[in-house]
Amino acid sequence: MRPAGELEGTVTVQGAKNSALKLMAATLLAEGEYLLRRVPRINDVEIMAELLTSMGVAVHRAADGTLVVRRGADCLPEAPYELVERMRASIVVLGPLLARFGRARVAMPGGDNFGSRPIDMHLRGLEALGASFSFSHGIIDARADLLRGTKVVLDFPSVGATENLLLAAVLAKGTTVIDNAAREPEIADLAAFLNSMGATVGGAGSATIVVEGVEELTPADHEVIPDRIEAATYLAAVGMAGGEIVLAGARADHMDMLIHKLGAMGVRVSETSEGLWAARPGRRRLTAVDIATLPYPGVATDYKPLLVTMLSTADGVGVVTENVFAANRYAYVAELQRMGADISLASHHAVVRGVARLSGAPVKAPDIRAGAALVVAGLVAEGETVVSGAHHIDRGYEDMAGKLAALGADVRRA
Ligand code: UD1
Repeated sequence: MRPAGELEGTVTVQGAKNSALKLMAATLLAEGEYLLRRVPRINDVEIMAELLTSMGVAVHRAADGTLVVRRGADCLPEAPYELVERMRASIVVLGPLLARFGRARVAMPGGDNFGSRPIDMHLRGLEALGASFSFSHGIIDARADLLRGTKVVLDFPSVGATENLLLAAVLAKGTTVIDNAAREPEIADLAAFLNSMGATVGGAGSATIVVEGVEELTPADHEVIPDRIEAATYLAAVGMAGGEIVLAGARADHMDMLIHKLGAMGVRVSETSEGLWAARPGRRRLTAVDIATLPYPGVATDYKPLLVTMLSTADGVGVVTENVFAANRYAYVAELQRMGADISLASHHAVVRGVARLSGAPVKAPDIRAGAALVVAGLVAEGETVVSGAHHIDRGYEDMAGKLAALGADVRRA
């Protein structure tokens, strides 16, 4: 891609990857046909579909794009390594399989580009509900004759652990209380879906979730919430390149803290009947701010590569602190440095000194969000930027190059 000046136009925000994957896992809880609307056409959804298919669940797209999931009576409660290894979020099938079938064999997820990502909180929470686990040859063998509601206090508001527990608790006997639960909008979306299946989940979106177990659930029809991280990507793009765009379908109420930060940097964002309107007027540089990632409603760790990229050409110095994942989630910084960014790293912190301009270079996408951030950097870098490893971006983004091109950017997929 090459710089092509200001962006202008409308992009339609896809459904949230991090919600769609969990809703798909939730279909393991009850036999029948589900309709999931606005499921993004991305590779991670394909992997989750493959995983469900390998268990005996039928998944296809209807002509109007709706994902139709049909779970029959027979289901093989197993998640093989070759799929779990491709997508760690596969671990979220553990809770529903245990709840519905009383057993599951799920490969242990290994490390990923961010380093090790433990699942101890998932397992401890499920154990408290009555599950037991044994481990051999990299497989978790899980059993639960009966899941019984209880109070689980999480050490940290882990998104995945909250979801796995929620997905098990809906069919447990009695009341489960999940305390210090994750509050992300995707958790509230999962709870809304489960409630439309007949579950009784209260408090999702707050730190205390209360689940009254039911005997049985039935399939449902549900529209996935919009992807706040995809929306943030196009906000970062207009922040970097300037111009004026509309993000159709985006929800401001899921992005309060980010919108506040972007405002302080000089990006104007406001809510409209269609979604969000965003602009960076004139030739003024962005202003540097300090940023700390935190569980929701704090600034999401997934926004961080985008924000670091924006700070790399902002006026001033911004200190970015990672509080959600281990310190080594900064692989893309070396790539931004190749483009001329002035960033120094120390433990959980990145100190970003804004430079007047970036210069285009061949760079490598280390993961989904960092890959997208490098594309955003390329929108303003002088000369040509080639982002390799674009398959990482496809895991989470529906046609990123096409959407940016529709806004006037000079981007193409080789
Ligand atoms: C989800 C999102 C991911 C996002 C993250 C944090 C999906 C598919 N992925 O990941 O994009 O960056 O939330 O918002 O939805 N931890 C433990 N033990 C556990 C579980 C987690 O120590 O059992 C730690 C993790 O290592 C990490 C922190 O808790 O440091 C948060 O992880 P978690 O919220 O669980 O992230 P994911 O659900 O994996």
